[in-house]
Amino acid sequence: MKTFVAKRVVLIMGGGIAAYKCLDLIRRLREREVQVRVVMTAAAHHFVTPLSVGALTNERVFTNLFDLDDEREIGHVRLARDCDLIVVAPATADLLARMAGGHANDLATSVLLATDKPILVVPAMNPHMWMNKATQRNVAQLKADGVHILGPAIGEMAERGEAGVGRLVEVPEILMAVERLIGGDQTANAAAPRPPHDVSMASQRQDVLTGRHVLITAGPTHEPIDPVRYIANRSSGKQGYAIAVAAARLGARVTLVSGPVSLPDPAGVDVVRVVTAAEMLEAAQAALPADIAVFAAAVADWRVAKPKSEKIKKGRGEAGVPKLALTENPDILKTIAHLKSRRPALVIGFAAETQTLVAHARRKLKRKGADWIVANDVSPGTGIMGGDRNTVHLLSAAGIESWPDMSKDKVAERLMARAAADLSHYLTARTAAE
Ligand code: C5P
Repeated sequence: MKTFVAKRVVLIMGGGIAAYKCLDLIRRLREREVQVRVVMTAAAHHFVTPLSVGALTNERVFTNLFDLDDEREIGHVRLARDCDLIVVAPATADLLARMAGGHANDLATSVLLATDKPILVVPAMNPHMWMNKATQRNVAQLKADGVHILGPAIGEMAERGEAGVGRLVEVPEILMAVERLIGGDQTANAAAPRPPHDVSMASQRQDVLTGRHVLITAGPTHEPIDPVRYIANRSSGKQGYAIAVAAARLGARVTLVSGPVSLPDPAGVDVVRVVTAAEMLEAAQAALPADIAVFAAAVADWRVAKPKSEKIKKGRGEAGVPKLALTENPDILKTIAHLKSRRPALVIGFAAETQTLVAHARRKLKRKGADWIVANDVSPGTGIMGGDRNTVHLLSAAGIESWPDMSKDKVAERLMARAAADLSHYLTARTAAE
């Protein structure tokens, strides 16, 4: 287990039933030697007690802005600054609204307003509250402010009979996001808000894609069977997110159309979150025109023709097994690569295969109408699926290039640098074709 000695997290707990899961989050962070200071909202007290929180953190629990003892010992400004990350979990609809509005009417919101550290928000609420336009508006505002939003996940809610988007994402996923934000990972560092005078970023940034628009799809799609179950592909979204970061570093305007993943939004990237293949296609089309399009998503090939609006009940024995009629999903890469007008000049697809990699990828290049295919072997032994490294081959009309094993961040950097270098060739070809 990776430890984060001397790392400090402030956990702001909102008042939701999912608060109990945050007790486990505290334990897991403590196991990793992270110091955890907890601020509880007044509503959080209805779900967990400061006593149990304090026993787990081994720190005093902060609750009241106007507690003079608290302020004398450690004022809310120090609480906001003496940490590496602020995690808000569970983030209720009310807390999101107060954050988006810049309120400071309790200790939690005052800390959030006073901090200059990255903020990771993990929402949990009833699906109707999450889908409400006001909540969606507040989430969009927080994203625009550079706040990282993780989830919510899809599934059954604590209330009986309620299901949908609104569950707190599971603790291991929250830990992964925390790790990315405090663990020195390259993608996470790029995602963290930085002050404008940050020279390290400025020196890394080259402007070869300034004025260009790069569209990227990433992650899996989830195709509903009923409100609780879905069909999906395995995909962490890491490679697509790394490509978005690399393109933004080169100065591009980036639209990242992402399926459900547990990665925080990279800063400076326009992230459109979708669930199904149909939504992903719609969002990708809405993002056009683009100069470069990279299709890194693992789109489900089929969806259930008629998903049920209620959870399918388990029947008895073989006769009770539901029969699912499947239908084909749109091929997003193929659709966009075959557009007569508004086809991006450089279209890049991925081919994740477990056998005869290059032959499959070559066929895919042709069939899908892509300019490049990035082929990788995702056989179980390789550790590529969900891992941080990748070994890829780049196929184009010019031939095949095999790249050595490298991190997904490096693959992304090299791919985007290559795309920037070759773009003028594809732009000229596109102009001639139109
Ligand atoms: O799944 P498949 O091997 O066909 O994926 C190859 C490429 O096509 C990938 O770049 C993937 O993102 C894209 N694709 C897509 N829409 C689909 C299926 C795949 O954009 N429905």
